[in-house]
Amino acid sequence: MHHNWWKESVVYQIYPRSFNDSNGDGIGDLQGITEKVDYLKDLGVDVVWLSPVYQSPNDDNGYDISDYQAIMAEFGTMADWEELLAALHQRGMKLIMDLVVNHSSDEHVWFQEAKKSKDNPYRDYYIWRPGKNGREPNNWKSNFGGSAWEYDPNTDEYYLHLFSKKQPDLNWENPKLRQEVYDMMKWWLDKGIDGFRMDVINFISKVPGLPDGVVKSGETYASGSRYYRNGPRIHEFLHEMNNEALAGYDVMTVGEMPGVDVEEAKKYTDPSRNELDMVFQFEHMGLDAGPNGKWDVKPLKLTDLKANISKWQEGLNGIGWNSLYLNNHDQPRMVSRFGDDGEHRIESAKMLATFLHMLQGTPYIYQGEEIGMTNVRFDSIEDYRDIEILNMYQEKVVENGEDPNKVMESIYAKGRDNARTPFQWDDSKNAGFTTGEPWMKVNPNYRTINAKQARDDANSIYHYYRKLIRLRKRHPVIVYGDYQLILPEDEQVYAYLRSYHDEKLLVITNFSGDHVPFELPADAAFTAEESLIGNYGDFPADSYTRVTLKPYEARVYKGK
Ligand code: NOJ
Repeated sequence: MHHNWWKESVVYQIYPRSFNDSNGDGIGDLQGITEKVDYLKDLGVDVVWLSPVYQSPNDDNGYDISDYQAIMAEFGTMADWEELLAALHQRGMKLIMDLVVNHSSDEHVWFQEAKKSKDNPYRDYYIWRPGKNGREPNNWKSNFGGSAWEYDPNTDEYYLHLFSKKQPDLNWENPKLRQEVYDMMKWWLDKGIDGFRMDVINFISKVPGLPDGVVKSGETYASGSRYYRNGPRIHEFLHEMNNEALAGYDVMTVGEMPGVDVEEAKKYTDPSRNELDMVFQFEHMGLDAGPNGKWDVKPLKLTDLKANISKWQEGLNGIGWNSLYLNNHDQPRMVSRFGDDGEHRIESAKMLATFLHMLQGTPYIYQGEEIGMTNVRFDSIEDYRDIEILNMYQEKVVENGEDPNKVMESIYAKGRDNARTPFQWDDSKNAGFTTGEPWMKVNPNYRTINAKQARDDANSIYHYYRKLIRLRKRHPVIVYGDYQLILPEDEQVYAYLRSYHDEKLLVITNFSGDHVPFELPADAAFTAEESLIGNYGDFPADSYTRVTLKPYEARVYKGK
């Protein structure tokens, strides 16, 4: 297998608004991040992915960009950004930027021009259509609720927005738009960045004609996703982007791709096709959702997770590359979702980290994960900030009269603000995040869960992550080894083998709060030589054939 630095790296995602506020305005900022680069270095991560810091009216917290080459005033200045880049590079860390080019903000000058008239030179940078029978051009719904079309009375046409109406979709069919994007990317690359995370990048090619979707009973709009995910020209566009913008730079790229399957992902990440290095797939994020989508919460079955992760591990092995994550700024906190954020918070957070970091792929840590930050339960909808949560509540409770308590429960389980509460640095007021009024309330558990506590405690989740990251640097089998699932039917224990040349790993993780027996199947070819890491302290290397696992226990053995 080909060796690359980004396969050997661990990436740390920063959501700047919630990371660290340096000037007391209640909003995280770039100088705040620079203050914490030594924290990141100490943790041991190699790459920082910054969620968007560009100029934006913040309808979707920066995922609505009004100038791709300017910094959001709330976050600081271009000089602050340059200082951050230099501080990371000085310490041997890299920086990747978020690239949000499926859509721009409606306040971007391109859109301001485009809506002036049908013959404006920028009109075709966006997707405009006349109405049909006095209604929208098609029946697609927006990912943030309601129609995906907004009427513009001035030119008597609608524009497409797959997210909020302040996020008009860019028209990738237009070669001029594509060239503008590539030029902008090169401008950032020439500033010295080390790559891009590409927002919903598999949405940029839409099926011509934009056909209607099928409306579910009781609903007004249909999902149009089959007509815009992994669309007909997507590989052509990404290949062109690689050629025009990325070629010649030693950078990493990761495409965010809701609805991507293994077969498509192979094409996106096969190096011989020159598209992307890796993708974020979402199948494992959907395993605890019922037929009505993300807010329809159902318990996760471990065997479903195993089947899914194994399919990806085996599918991309030797062809493409996986990105490994259990949470990010759009998902609930992993310890609350897949572990136990009460009695076994520390053990289960460590177990989940072990499970993830020992898989084949590049692991991503989302800010706060390394100290075991949890979901939050605000009493009132007024305390929530996320446009997706607020639109959903409006639609379900205010417009459709659904039970507000039930809707709040689904927000507690799945809402994006679970991940966006301010980072918990210490037990002082507002968790040390700001001296002012935070833009969103701090999770009240910051008095016990915070970075200061975690760094002072040698047995903390934080120090466990440091160890996991260091192991990756020492044992190539962790990075490059093949994956083999064992015990596929077990509903409590997830165990697998990795092998690379003559090195092997046995990874055993208990996903339950029970004491459970583990027995290595007789046909599993493995002989342990040393114990690498475990979340209940040291354990003997010869204990691997038969062992009773403690609640959420994780053990990794190295051998042959
Ligand atoms: C995915 C981003 O991660 C999410 O935060 C955003 O709302 C949508 N794309 C739209 O940009």
